[in-house]
Amino acid sequence: MKTEVIFSSRAARDLDAVVERCDRPFDKVFVLTDETTRRLCRPLLEDSAALRTAADITIGATDAHKTLQTLADVWKALGDGGASRRSLLVCLGGGMVTDLGGFAAATFKRGIAFINIPTTLLSMVDAAVGGKTGINFNGLKNEVGAFCDSRAVIVDTDFLRTLDAANLRSGYAEMLKHALLSDESMWAAHLRFDLSQPDYGCLRDMVAQSIAVKERIVAADPHEQGLRKALNLGHTAGHALESLALAEDRPVLHGYAVAWGLICELYLSAASLGFPEDRLRQTTAFIREHYGPFAFECRHYEQLYTYMLHDKKNAGGVINLTLLADIGEVRLDCHVKKELIFEAFDFLREG
Ligand code: GLY
Repeated sequence: MKTEVIFSSRAARDLDAVVERCDRPFDKVFVLTDETTRRLCRPLLEDSAALRTAADITIGATDAHKTLQTLADVWKALGDGGASRRSLLVCLGGGMVTDLGGFAAATFKRGIAFINIPTTLLSMVDAAVGGKTGINFNGLKNEVGAFCDSRAVIVDTDFLRTLDAANLRSGYAEMLKHALLSDESMWAAHLRFDLSQPDYGCLRDMVAQSIAVKERIVAADPHEQGLRKALNLGHTAGHALESLALAEDRPVLHGYAVAWGLICELYLSAASLGFPEDRLRQTTAFIREHYGPFAFECRHYEQLYTYMLHDKKNAGGVINLTLLADIGEVRLDCHVKKELIFEAFDFLREG
């Protein structure tokens, strides 16, 4: 079943409309939030008729709670609340809530329906769309999960008005990635956008465009056998930087790591595939201006390389990179020498 993506300015009304359209009525409805979205976002669904008798399940906020224990807590709350196969779980939150909630729904009684209402930019343009669900396990991000499509994703960009600047930038890095995968005019528009003083009307249109890019790629390759690997642009180096920051107890937001990873991987693209230098320079300048530097030294390079080797997207001891020959010209499963990867780290540090 294809997920319906609804661009909304009244999430409560549109949620009711989606529930009305479902083939069979739901016997019970549950709303999953974290402590932050329960307080800030749940009140915006107060008018929903579908949620009038819904049961709330609230979990701890942040990635630290994306665990097996939290998943078990959600399963238990569903069971204790009398959920059946004909129940619905509405996941209201950022990527942690939609990933974990989606996995809880995918597995409870072998699968119940769920609807995502993403509340952060990162979850709107990435996590909530595309059917990936899961939890962190054994120290690894998203190690256990399932592909499972939500019934619908309701994207109400009004939630972004209360999102802090750092989380806005974090989500924007994924939008920049989609623009790089797409075409020159989308890329240029993304570099022109004033992230310091966002025009929310313009951002809404850009979010829709960004989701359309992701949907197109996922529709062609839902289970990441080929083309979906394009969405890993910036992520192989980015995950390594994110892991290093976490290991050193100075965690960074995912999108910041992706933005720095994009600098590394566009450098590799220029060096190995002839990605144009001026586009590398302009993209790098934009990222440096809005995301600042990532502090690391030569002594971290081996560790970063090891993290890249262990990225779960790799097999057989080689690093598979998604690179670009130009904007929109994606090359999958690229391999480059270790020395070149170290040069890319130099480039990221040098600024
Ligand atoms: N976040 C990358 C993907 O959904 O494939």
